[in-house]
Amino acid sequence: MDKFLIRGGNPLKGTIEIGGAKNSALPCLAATLLTAETVTLHNVPYVKDLITQRRLLEDLGATVLTPELRTHRVTAANIDTFEAPYELVKTMRASVLALGPLLARFGKAKVSLPGGCAIGTRPIDLHLMAFERLGATVSLESGDVVARAPKGRLEGSQIDFEKVTVTGTENVMMAASLARGRTIIRNAAMEPEIEDLAELLKKMGAQISGAGTPEIEIIGVDELGGAEHTIIPDRIETGTFIVAAAITGGELEIAHCRPDHLAAVISKLSDVGVEIEKKNDSTLKVRVSGNGLKAADVITEPHPKFPTDMQAQYMALMTRSEGTSKIVETIFENRFMHASEMIRMGADIHINGNTAIVRGPRKLTGAPVIASDLRASASLVLAALCAEGETLIDRVYHIDRGYERIVRKLRSIGADIERVTEDSAVAEAV
Ligand code: UD1
Repeated sequence: MDKFLIRGGNPLKGTIEIGGAKNSALPCLAATLLTAETVTLHNVPYVKDLITQRRLLEDLGATVLTPELRTHRVTAANIDTFEAPYELVKTMRASVLALGPLLARFGKAKVSLPGGCAIGTRPIDLHLMAFERLGATVSLESGDVVARAPKGRLEGSQIDFEKVTVTGTENVMMAASLARGRTIIRNAAMEPEIEDLAELLKKMGAQISGAGTPEIEIIGVDELGGAEHTIIPDRIETGTFIVAAAITGGELEIAHCRPDHLAAVISKLSDVGVEIEKKNDSTLKVRVSGNGLKAADVITEPHPKFPTDMQAQYMALMTRSEGTSKIVETIFENRFMHASEMIRMGADIHINGNTAIVRGPRKLTGAPVIASDLRASASLVLAALCAEGETLIDRVYHIDRGYERIVRKLRSIGADIERVTEDSAVAEAV
C-alpha cells in the first residue's frame, strides 16, 4: 500500500492551480446517462473517484472518450445494463448518482446499497423517499436497491427533504428533469456543485430554476440532448491549499479558483489570522498575518456555512493556533478519526461526541500515522508539513480519490514529500 513520507518545516511558496471539483464532476458524469447524445465535460479532475465513475458509465454501456486528460466525451446511446454493482459502490458512494438518471430515462435501476463507511453510516433513505414521491417503486433485494417507474416514466411531485442532502438533491434534479410535469424540491442543498449540475442539465435542455436556493423547481421534459460544459474549480482543494500556506508560514498564490464558493471558509480563516487577498475573481494570495494564528470555534453546516469537508484541515490548523478552539461536526458521525493521529504527532485534542476541543499552539513532531478517509488524509498531510521530523502516512489511497497529483503539486511549492510505493510506475503516474 502506498505511503507518503513527509519531512516537515518547509514554508510553502509559489503558485498553485486548482483543478475541477470532484463533487461536481461526479454528478455531471452521472447526468450524461440522461441522454443518447454526446455530452462533453471539461476540467474533470484526474482523481481516482472520477476513474471509478468512468468505469461505471462504461460498465453500463456508455462510450467515454478522453481526447484530453481532463476532457470526458460521453455517449450513453447504448446502455444495456441498469445496475451499479457492489464492487463500485463500496469504493465510491457517489455511484448512487446513477440511480436517478437510469430510473428517469429507462424506468429501472439497480444500485447496491452503500454500506457503512469510515465517516459513519451514510444512508440513502432520503434519495429513495424522493424517488417514491416521483412515482417509483423501491425495494431492497439481496443488498441491492431496485427502483422501477411502474408507468414507464416518473411523475413530477413535491419533495420536502427533512435533512439537507447534496447527492440526494442532485439525484432528484436529474430524475425530475425527465419526469412528467413539475417537481419542487424543498430544503434543497445549496452547494455550488448543485448549481453546476443545474447549469449542465439546462444546457442539455432541462427546465430548472432556483438551483443554489433552498427551493428548486424542475419542469420535466420528454428528452434531453447533448451539451458541452466546464466543471467549476474544487472549493475544498482551494481551502486545503489556503491552510497549507498558513500552517507552514508560507505564501501562496492560488489560481483558477472561485473564492465566492468558499466564502465561509475564507471568512473563518481570515478571523484566525490568515491573510487572504483576492487578486482577482479567480486568484487568491495567502499568507499568515504578522500577529500569528489565533484559535476560533467552528461548526460544520450545509452550504453556505462552513463545510464538513474542511473540518479536518481546520483542526490541523487549530493545533498550531494560540488558544482553545471548539470544533463541532454536525453533518457526519465519526468524522474525527484524524484527531487520534494528530494526537500521536503531539496535538492536544479532546473529543466528546461530535465536539472536539483543540488547545494550541502545540509543536507537532513527525510520526507514523494512518489516513482514514479523504479529508482526514489531507489534514494529516497538512499536520506533517509543519511537523518537526519525518511523518509516514499510510493508506494514502484515500487522498488519491480526491486530490489531483497532490505530491507533484506540493513539491512544486517547496514541500519535502515523496510517495513510497512498491511500484515505481504508479508513483510516476500520480
Ligand atoms: C456530499 C459530498 C461529500 C460531503 C457531503 C456534505 C459528493 C459526492 N459528496 O456527500 O463530499 O462531505 O456532501 O457536504 O458530493 N443523509 C441521510 N439520508 C440520505 C442522505 C443523507 O440521512 O438519504 C444524511 C447523511 O448521513 C449526512 C447528511 O444527511 O448526515 C448529509 O449527507 P449528504 O449531503 O447526502 O452527503 P453526501 O451527498 O453523501
